[in-house]
Amino acid sequence: MLSALEILAVIGVVLLVPLLYRLWNFIWLYFLRPSTAHKYLHAAPTYALITGASDGIGKALAKELYDQGFNLILHGRNEQKIRKVVEEVRRNGARDVLYFLADASDVNHDFERMMAPYMNLNITLVVHNVGNQGFTKERIDGFSNADVAGIVNRNAIFPLHLTHTLLPRLRLSAKTGPVLVQFMGSLASEISPPRFAIYGASKSFLKALARGLDTDEQVWTPTGVHFEYLVTGQVQSNSMRLTASLGTPTSETYAKAIVARMGCGWRKYCPFWVHAVQLWFSEVMGEGMQDKYAAGAIPELIALHEKKA
Ligand SMILES: NC(=O)c1ccc[n+]([C@@H]2O[C@H](COP(=O)([O-])OP(=O)(O)OC[C@H]3O[C@@H](n4cnc5c(N)ncnc54)[C@H](OP(=O)(O)O)[C@@H]3O)[C@@H](O)[C@H]2O)c1
Repeated sequence: MLSALEILAVIGVVLLVPLLYRLWNFIWLYFLRPSTAHKYLHAAPTYALITGASDGIGKALAKELYDQGFNLILHGRNEQKIRKVVEEVRRNGARDVLYFLADASDVNHDFERMMAPYMNLNITLVVHNVGNQGFTKERIDGFSNADVAGIVNRNAIFPLHLTHTLLPRLRLSAKTGPVLVQFMGSLASEISPPRFAIYGASKSFLKALARGLDTDEQVWTPTGVHFEYLVTGQVQSNSMRLTASLGTPTSETYAKAIVARMGCGWRKYCPFWVHAVQLWFSEVMGEGMQDKYAAGAIPELIALHEKKA
Protein backbone atom coordinates (compact mmCIF):
# COMPACT_ATOMS: atom_id res chain seq x y z
CA MET A 1 0.00 0.00 0.00
CA LEU A 2 1.46 3.42 -0.99
CA SER A 3 1.57 6.23 1.56
CA ALA A 4 -0.04 9.62 0.77
CA LEU A 5 3.45 11.06 0.24
CA GLU A 6 4.36 8.31 -2.24
CA ILE A 7 1.08 8.84 -4.14
CA LEU A 8 1.85 12.58 -4.36
CA ALA A 9 5.37 11.79 -5.57
CA VAL A 10 4.00 9.49 -8.31
CA ILE A 11 1.48 12.20 -9.38
CA GLY A 12 4.33 14.75 -9.41
CA VAL A 13 6.48 12.55 -11.66
CA VAL A 14 3.54 11.81 -14.00
CA LEU A 15 2.87 15.56 -14.32
CA LEU A 16 6.55 16.42 -14.69
CA VAL A 17 7.42 13.94 -17.48
CA PRO A 18 5.41 15.68 -20.26
CA LEU A 19 6.77 19.07 -19.14
CA LEU A 20 10.37 17.82 -19.24
CA TYR A 21 9.73 16.21 -22.61
CA ARG A 22 8.38 19.51 -23.93
CA LEU A 23 11.37 21.41 -22.49
CA TRP A 24 13.79 18.97 -24.14
CA ASN A 25 12.00 19.35 -27.50
CA PHE A 26 12.21 23.13 -27.11
CA ILE A 27 15.97 23.10 -26.42
CA TRP A 28 16.59 20.64 -29.25
CA LEU A 29 14.49 22.49 -31.86
CA TYR A 30 15.69 26.04 -31.16
CA PHE A 31 19.24 25.66 -29.86
CA LEU A 32 20.74 22.29 -30.86
CA ARG A 33 19.18 20.97 -34.07
CA PRO A 34 21.27 21.72 -37.16
CA SER A 35 19.43 23.18 -40.17
CA THR A 36 18.34 20.60 -42.74
CA ALA A 37 17.18 23.08 -45.42
CA HIS A 38 19.79 21.61 -47.80
CA LYS A 39 17.80 18.35 -47.99
CA TYR A 40 15.38 20.19 -50.31
CA LEU A 41 18.25 20.95 -52.71
CA HIS A 42 18.20 17.81 -54.84
CA ALA A 43 18.27 17.11 -58.58
CA ALA A 44 19.53 20.64 -59.37
CA PRO A 45 18.43 23.14 -60.51
CA THR A 46 16.05 23.31 -57.57
CA TYR A 47 13.31 25.94 -57.19
CA ALA A 48 11.54 27.47 -54.19
CA LEU A 49 8.22 29.22 -54.84
CA ILE A 50 7.31 32.01 -52.40
CA THR A 51 4.06 33.99 -52.46
CA GLY A 52 3.84 37.57 -51.19
CA ALA A 53 7.56 38.01 -51.84
CA SER A 54 7.63 41.73 -52.63
CA ASP A 55 7.88 42.82 -48.99
CA GLY A 56 8.26 41.80 -45.36
CA ILE A 57 8.82 38.15 -44.46
CA GLY A 58 8.39 36.87 -48.04
CA LYS A 59 11.06 39.21 -49.40
CA ALA A 60 13.48 38.35 -46.58
CA LEU A 61 12.82 34.64 -47.12
CA ALA A 62 13.51 34.99 -50.86
CA LYS A 63 16.95 36.46 -50.10
CA GLU A 64 17.68 33.81 -47.47
CA LEU A 65 16.69 30.87 -49.68
CA TYR A 66 18.63 32.27 -52.64
CA ASP A 67 21.73 32.48 -50.43
CA GLN A 68 21.11 28.83 -49.44
CA GLY A 69 21.31 27.77 -53.12
CA PHE A 70 17.69 27.76 -54.34
CA ASN A 71 16.48 29.20 -57.62
CA LEU A 72 13.35 31.25 -57.01
CA ILE A 73 9.83 31.71 -58.33
CA LEU A 74 8.44 34.80 -56.61
CA HIS A 75 4.87 36.01 -56.45
CA GLY A 76 3.70 39.61 -56.08
CA ARG A 77 0.88 41.85 -57.22
CA ASN A 78 2.83 45.00 -58.06
CA GLU A 79 5.20 44.45 -60.99
CA GLN A 80 7.50 47.36 -60.17
CA LYS A 81 7.88 46.23 -56.57
CA ILE A 82 8.51 42.55 -57.31
CA ARG A 83 10.97 43.39 -60.12
CA LYS A 84 12.94 45.45 -57.61
CA VAL A 85 13.14 42.43 -55.30
CA VAL A 86 14.19 40.20 -58.24
CA GLU A 87 17.03 42.64 -59.06
CA GLU A 88 18.13 42.85 -55.40
CA VAL A 89 18.22 39.06 -55.04
CA ARG A 90 20.05 38.54 -58.36
CA ARG A 91 22.91 40.74 -57.17
CA ASN A 92 23.97 37.87 -54.89
CA GLY A 93 24.38 35.16 -57.53
CA ALA A 94 23.73 33.76 -60.97
CA ARG A 95 20.78 31.49 -60.23
CA ASP A 96 17.32 31.94 -61.73
CA VAL A 97 14.84 34.38 -60.15
CA LEU A 98 11.46 34.24 -61.90
CA TYR A 99 8.25 35.99 -60.91
CA PHE A 100 4.52 35.97 -61.55
CA LEU A 101 1.80 38.48 -60.70
CA ALA A 102 -1.63 37.86 -59.18
CA ASP A 103 -3.93 39.70 -56.81
CA ALA A 104 -4.46 37.04 -54.14
CA SER A 105 -7.66 38.73 -52.90
CA ASP A 106 -9.22 37.63 -56.16
CA VAL A 107 -9.36 33.86 -56.78
CA ASN A 108 -10.97 33.96 -60.21
CA HIS A 109 -7.62 33.19 -61.80
CA ASP A 110 -6.84 30.43 -64.24
CA PHE A 111 -4.40 28.73 -61.84
CA GLU A 112 -3.39 26.04 -64.37
CA ARG A 113 -2.41 28.74 -66.85
CA MET A 114 -0.71 30.82 -64.17
CA MET A 115 1.50 27.89 -63.10
CA ALA A 116 2.04 26.41 -66.60
CA PRO A 117 5.47 28.10 -67.13
CA TYR A 118 6.76 26.47 -63.92
CA MET A 119 5.35 22.93 -64.14
CA ASN A 120 8.53 21.60 -65.76
CA LEU A 121 10.78 23.05 -63.06
CA ASN A 122 12.03 21.02 -60.11
CA ILE A 123 10.06 22.82 -57.36
CA THR A 124 10.97 21.29 -53.97
CA LEU A 125 9.79 24.06 -51.63
CA VAL A 126 6.63 26.17 -51.61
CA VAL A 127 6.05 28.89 -49.01
CA HIS A 128 2.48 30.20 -48.97
CA ASN A 129 3.37 33.48 -47.32
CA VAL A 130 0.83 35.91 -48.79
CA GLY A 131 -1.76 37.20 -46.33
CA ASN A 132 -2.88 39.91 -43.92
CA GLN A 133 -6.03 41.63 -42.73
CA GLY A 134 -5.15 45.24 -42.05
CA PHE A 135 -5.72 47.12 -38.80
CA THR A 136 -9.17 48.58 -38.34
CA LYS A 137 -11.67 49.20 -35.53
CA GLU A 138 -14.46 47.78 -37.72
CA ARG A 139 -16.46 44.75 -36.58
CA ILE A 140 -17.27 42.10 -39.22
CA ASP A 141 -20.45 43.90 -40.37
CA GLY A 142 -18.36 47.03 -40.99
CA PHE A 143 -16.68 45.22 -43.88
CA SER A 144 -18.29 44.92 -47.32
CA ASN A 145 -18.89 41.40 -48.66
CA ALA A 146 -16.04 41.99 -51.11
CA ASP A 147 -13.70 42.93 -48.23
CA VAL A 148 -14.65 39.78 -46.31
CA ALA A 149 -14.09 37.60 -49.40
CA GLY A 150 -10.77 39.38 -50.05
CA ILE A 151 -9.43 38.57 -46.58
CA VAL A 152 -10.46 34.91 -46.81
CA ASN A 153 -9.19 34.63 -50.40
CA ARG A 154 -5.69 36.01 -49.89
CA ASN A 155 -5.14 34.18 -46.60
CA ALA A 156 -6.76 30.81 -47.38
CA ILE A 157 -8.33 30.21 -50.81
CA PHE A 158 -5.46 31.49 -52.98
CA PRO A 159 -2.96 29.11 -51.27
CA LEU A 160 -5.51 26.29 -51.57
CA HIS A 161 -5.88 26.71 -55.36
CA LEU A 162 -2.16 27.13 -55.83
CA THR A 163 -1.48 23.92 -53.88
CA HIS A 164 -4.19 22.09 -55.83
CA THR A 165 -2.52 23.09 -59.11
CA LEU A 166 1.08 22.49 -58.02
CA LEU A 167 0.62 19.11 -56.31
CA PRO A 168 1.24 16.88 -59.39
CA ARG A 169 4.47 18.84 -60.03
CA LEU A 170 5.51 18.51 -56.37
CA ARG A 171 4.96 14.72 -56.45
CA LEU A 172 7.25 14.50 -59.49
CA SER A 173 9.93 16.55 -57.67
CA ALA A 174 9.56 14.24 -54.66
CA LYS A 175 10.82 11.30 -56.73
CA THR A 176 14.42 12.50 -56.17
CA GLY A 177 14.12 13.74 -52.56
CA PRO A 178 11.83 15.39 -50.02
CA VAL A 179 9.45 18.23 -50.95
CA LEU A 180 7.97 20.71 -48.50
CA VAL A 181 4.95 23.02 -48.58
CA GLN A 182 4.74 25.62 -45.79
CA PHE A 183 1.68 27.66 -44.90
CA MET A 184 2.32 30.92 -43.04
CA GLY A 185 0.08 30.79 -39.99
CA SER A 186 -0.45 33.17 -37.11
CA LEU A 187 -0.83 33.22 -33.35
CA ALA A 188 -4.16 34.88 -34.27
CA SER A 189 -5.49 31.44 -35.22
CA GLU A 190 -4.68 30.19 -31.71
CA ILE A 191 -6.32 33.07 -29.82
CA SER A 192 -8.64 34.64 -32.44
CA PRO A 193 -8.32 38.21 -31.11
CA PRO A 194 -11.13 40.78 -31.39
CA ARG A 195 -11.44 42.47 -34.82
CA PHE A 196 -9.31 39.68 -36.37
CA ALA A 197 -11.87 36.87 -36.43
CA ILE A 198 -11.88 36.47 -40.25
CA TYR A 199 -8.08 36.53 -40.38
CA GLY A 200 -7.75 34.06 -37.48
CA ALA A 201 -10.35 31.75 -39.03
CA SER A 202 -8.57 31.87 -42.41
CA LYS A 203 -5.28 30.88 -40.78
CA SER A 204 -7.08 28.03 -38.94
CA PHE A 205 -8.22 26.83 -42.37
CA LEU A 206 -4.54 26.62 -43.40
CA LYS A 207 -3.73 24.72 -40.19
CA ALA A 208 -6.35 22.05 -40.94
CA LEU A 209 -5.31 21.98 -44.60
CA ALA A 210 -1.64 21.38 -43.72
CA ARG A 211 -2.53 18.52 -41.39
CA GLY A 212 -5.01 16.88 -43.76
CA LEU A 213 -2.82 17.17 -46.86
CA ASP A 214 0.24 15.96 -44.97
CA THR A 215 -1.49 12.75 -43.88
CA ASP A 216 -3.09 12.43 -47.33
CA GLU A 217 0.35 12.34 -48.97
CA GLN A 218 1.62 9.72 -46.49
CA VAL A 219 -1.30 7.25 -46.49
CA TRP A 220 -1.43 4.26 -48.90
CA THR A 221 1.29 5.40 -51.31
CA PRO A 222 3.59 7.91 -49.57
CA THR A 223 4.66 10.57 -52.08
CA GLY A 224 7.40 12.39 -50.15
CA VAL A 225 5.49 15.72 -50.20
CA HIS A 226 5.18 17.18 -46.68
CA PHE A 227 3.17 20.09 -45.32
CA GLU A 228 3.90 22.43 -42.40
CA TYR A 229 1.92 25.18 -40.68
CA LEU A 230 4.08 27.95 -39.20
CA VAL A 231 2.68 29.63 -36.07
CA THR A 232 3.90 33.21 -36.42
CA GLY A 233 3.80 35.86 -33.69
CA GLN A 234 4.60 39.53 -34.23
CA VAL A 235 7.30 40.18 -36.85
CA GLN A 236 8.43 43.64 -37.96
CA SER A 237 7.32 44.03 -41.60
CA ASN A 238 5.51 46.36 -43.95
CA SER A 239 2.15 45.46 -42.43
CA MET A 240 3.41 45.15 -38.82
CA ARG A 241 5.14 48.47 -38.23
CA LEU A 242 6.56 47.85 -34.78
CA THR A 243 10.03 48.48 -33.43
CA ALA A 244 12.01 45.24 -33.52
CA SER A 245 12.50 43.66 -30.09
CA LEU A 246 13.07 40.24 -28.51
CA GLY A 247 9.45 39.24 -29.15
CA THR A 248 9.17 41.09 -32.48
CA PRO A 249 12.05 40.00 -34.73
CA THR A 250 12.82 41.72 -38.01
CA SER A 251 11.62 39.94 -41.15
CA GLU A 252 15.25 39.02 -41.85
CA THR A 253 15.70 37.34 -38.43
CA TYR A 254 12.37 35.57 -38.86
CA ALA A 255 13.30 34.34 -42.35
CA LYS A 256 16.51 32.84 -40.92
CA ALA A 257 14.44 31.10 -38.22
CA ILE A 258 12.11 29.61 -40.88
CA VAL A 259 15.05 28.25 -42.87
CA ALA A 260 16.75 26.91 -39.71
CA ARG A 261 13.64 24.90 -38.65
CA MET A 262 12.13 23.80 -41.99
CA GLY A 263 11.59 20.05 -42.22
CA CYS A 264 12.12 19.64 -38.46
CA GLY A 265 9.54 16.85 -38.23
CA TRP A 266 6.79 18.83 -36.51
CA ARG A 267 3.80 19.66 -38.69
CA LYS A 268 2.69 22.69 -36.70
CA TYR A 269 5.33 24.74 -34.90
CA CYS A 270 6.70 28.23 -34.22
CA PRO A 271 9.87 28.83 -36.27
CA PHE A 272 10.98 31.53 -33.77
CA TRP A 273 11.68 30.52 -30.17
CA VAL A 274 10.15 33.58 -28.44
CA HIS A 275 6.87 32.97 -30.29
CA ALA A 276 6.97 29.37 -29.00
CA VAL A 277 7.28 30.68 -25.42
CA GLN A 278 4.39 33.12 -26.06
CA LEU A 279 2.26 30.26 -27.44
CA TRP A 280 3.03 28.13 -24.39
CA PHE A 281 2.08 30.97 -22.04
CA SER A 282 -1.16 31.60 -23.92
CA GLU A 283 -2.08 27.90 -23.61
CA VAL A 284 -1.35 27.98 -19.86
CA MET A 285 -3.41 31.19 -19.49
CA GLY A 286 -6.56 29.60 -20.94
CA GLU A 287 -9.19 31.30 -23.08
CA GLY A 288 -10.53 33.74 -20.49
CA MET A 289 -7.13 35.33 -19.82
CA GLN A 290 -6.18 35.23 -23.52
CA ASP A 291 -9.36 37.13 -24.44
CA LYS A 292 -8.75 39.74 -21.72
CA TYR A 293 -5.13 40.21 -22.82
CA ALA A 294 -6.08 40.48 -26.52
CA ALA A 295 -8.87 42.95 -25.73
CA GLY A 296 -6.22 45.22 -24.20
CA ALA A 297 -3.47 44.70 -26.78
CA ILE A 298 -5.43 44.90 -30.06
CA PRO A 299 -6.77 48.49 -29.63
CA GLU A 300 -3.17 49.63 -28.97
CA LEU A 301 -1.96 47.91 -32.17
CA ILE A 302 -4.81 49.42 -34.20
CA ALA A 303 -4.14 52.93 -32.78
CA LEU A 304 -0.42 52.60 -33.55
CA HIS A 305 -1.02 51.55 -37.16
CA GLU A 306 -3.65 54.24 -37.70
CA LYS A 307 -1.03 56.80 -36.57
CA LYS A 308 1.60 55.36 -38.95
CA ALA A 309 -0.77 55.03 -41.93
N1 LIG B 1 4.22 40.43 -39.48
C1 LIG B 1 3.56 39.82 -38.51
O1 LIG B 1 3.56 40.24 -37.36
C2 LIG B 1 2.81 38.54 -38.81
C3 LIG B 1 2.23 37.85 -37.74
C4 LIG B 1 1.55 36.67 -37.98
C5 LIG B 1 1.45 36.20 -39.30
N2 LIG B 1 2.01 36.91 -40.31
C6 LIG B 1 1.84 36.39 -41.67
O2 LIG B 1 3.07 36.46 -42.38
C7 LIG B 1 2.81 36.63 -43.77
C8 LIG B 1 3.63 37.78 -44.32
O3 LIG B 1 3.25 38.96 -43.66
P1 LIG B 1 4.19 40.24 -43.56
O4 LIG B 1 4.04 40.75 -42.18
O5 LIG B 1 5.53 39.97 -44.11
O6 LIG B 1 3.38 41.25 -44.51
P2 LIG B 1 3.88 42.38 -45.52
O7 LIG B 1 5.18 42.95 -45.12
O8 LIG B 1 2.73 43.30 -45.66
O9 LIG B 1 4.07 41.57 -46.89
C9 LIG B 1 2.96 40.92 -47.43
C10 LIG B 1 3.30 40.43 -48.82
O10 LIG B 1 2.10 39.90 -49.39
C11 LIG B 1 1.75 40.66 -50.54
N3 LIG B 1 0.31 40.83 -50.65
C12 LIG B 1 -0.55 41.34 -49.74
N4 LIG B 1 -1.80 41.31 -50.23
C13 LIG B 1 -1.72 40.79 -51.47
C14 LIG B 1 -2.66 40.51 -52.47
N5 LIG B 1 -3.96 40.78 -52.32
N6 LIG B 1 -2.23 39.94 -53.62
C15 LIG B 1 -0.93 39.68 -53.83
N7 LIG B 1 0.02 39.93 -52.91
C16 LIG B 1 -0.37 40.49 -51.75
C17 LIG B 1 2.42 42.00 -50.35
O11 LIG B 1 2.50 42.65 -51.60
P3 LIG B 1 2.74 44.26 -51.72
O12 LIG B 1 4.22 44.42 -51.51
O13 LIG B 1 2.30 44.58 -53.09
O14 LIG B 1 1.93 44.89 -50.64
C18 LIG B 1 3.75 41.54 -49.75
O15 LIG B 1 4.58 41.01 -50.74
C19 LIG B 1 1.29 36.81 -43.90
O16 LIG B 1 0.69 35.59 -44.23
C20 LIG B 1 0.87 37.21 -42.50
O17 LIG B 1 -0.47 36.86 -42.24
C21 LIG B 1 2.68 38.07 -40.10
